Amino acid sequence: MELEGKRIVLGVTGSVAAYKAAVLLRLLTGAGAKTQVAMTDAATRFVGPATFAALSGKLVLTDLWAAADENPMTHIDITRAADAILIAPATADCLARLAQGRADDLLAAMTLARACPLLVAPAMNRRMWENPATQRNLEILRQDGVTCLGPDTGLQACGEEGEGRMLAPETLLEVLRAFFTPNSLAGKKVLLTAGPTFEALDPVRGITNLSSGCMGYAVARAAARAGAEVTLVSGPVAQAAPMNVACIPVQSALEMYRAVMQRATTADIFIAVAAVADYRAERIAPQKLKKSAGSPPEIRLAQNPDILAEVAALPNPPFCVGFAAESERLEDHAQQKRARKGVPLIVGNLIQEGFGGETNHVILFDDAGSHPLPVAPKIQIARQLLAHILALMEKK
Ligand code: C5P
Repeated sequence: MELEGKRIVLGVTGSVAAYKAAVLLRLLTGAGAKTQVAMTDAATRFVGPATFAALSGKLVLTDLWAAADENPMTHIDITRAADAILIAPATADCLARLAQGRADDLLAAMTLARACPLLVAPAMNRRMWENPATQRNLEILRQDGVTCLGPDTGLQACGEEGEGRMLAPETLLEVLRAFFTPNSLAGKKVLLTAGPTFEALDPVRGITNLSSGCMGYAVARAAARAGAEVTLVSGPVAQAAPMNVACIPVQSALEMYRAVMQRATTADIFIAVAAVADYRAERIAPQKLKKSAGSPPEIRLAQNPDILAEVAALPNPPFCVGFAAESERLEDHAQQKRARKGVPLIVGNLIQEGFGGETNHVILFDDAGSHPLPVAPKIQIARQLLAHILALMEKK
């Protein structure tokens, strides 16, 4: 995983958003990062160091001189070993001090002595943010190679509305993940389908399936983290839109087909993860169907277009990848599907092992044969799939 074992120094400065840093720390440790928290004196007025110590499992560094008593080189030792320093929240005062290169408290000294990237997530009142002095300091930091994350716009703790809110901890985690993912897909356009389709029968009823969209969203997320320009055409699901992904919500297979065909000619890679209905109702009843006393109504079905096969048949198609969820004889069905749809790669999985769950067990089928991947969380499968796609594209 991107953050597994990464040594992150989380700097916390004196803003009310310091309470959000505790949530961020929880997310970072949950993602496998090895964290060390350093707080300024002002930060400890907002949230006690004990909270951060409990969440990181390590004593929090606060005082330059107390740290120096134990080890005079604390600031250098810690930043020498760190993979990144993230200051969240970073106050206007913190940005000013960083821009000047001050070293008069422990966090400032550690930051100045770093040999790793520095990321800051500003949090302040909107007027402090807009002040030319703050913007000037930020410009200096950017020129020094510091990455500025946010801030967000919205209601502020002071009651004003505007720019200056710290980015949500979940967003900061996502940014950090992307930061540690090699940009292997930079410059590539990736188009995906995900989720089920919903084929209406009348204004309230329809035919659908149990696809959660989890696998398709994981592939979209992994592709965005690897630097791709990602468009996700999604059927109705209860998944949050991944960061830096253009999401196009659709319901029926025909809507999905149109949304994909409009974009397929400019895509480099097309990954069809959606569980598309093979058939739709020939006619959608304009009014709600009524229960009748006689025999049950008959529904006449019409064939839906095969989106993947149509994209693969374009004159200059993107690299096409299909999914085959089977309940038996996976290899036979997957290889037949690959040939029938004319695609270089099919990801096969047994329905009982993938549908709806957090993990998946898949086998990749290509010209060279079959490549089983170990059972893993869907995001990890997604990363391995993208690496396999890139390797195949490079061979072509
Ligand atoms: O034909 P079948 O549904 O078994 O194939 C599954 C693969 O084809 C998946 O990648 C799915 O997204 C894609 N597909 C499609 N359009 C359809 C049916 C399936 O793109 N109408």
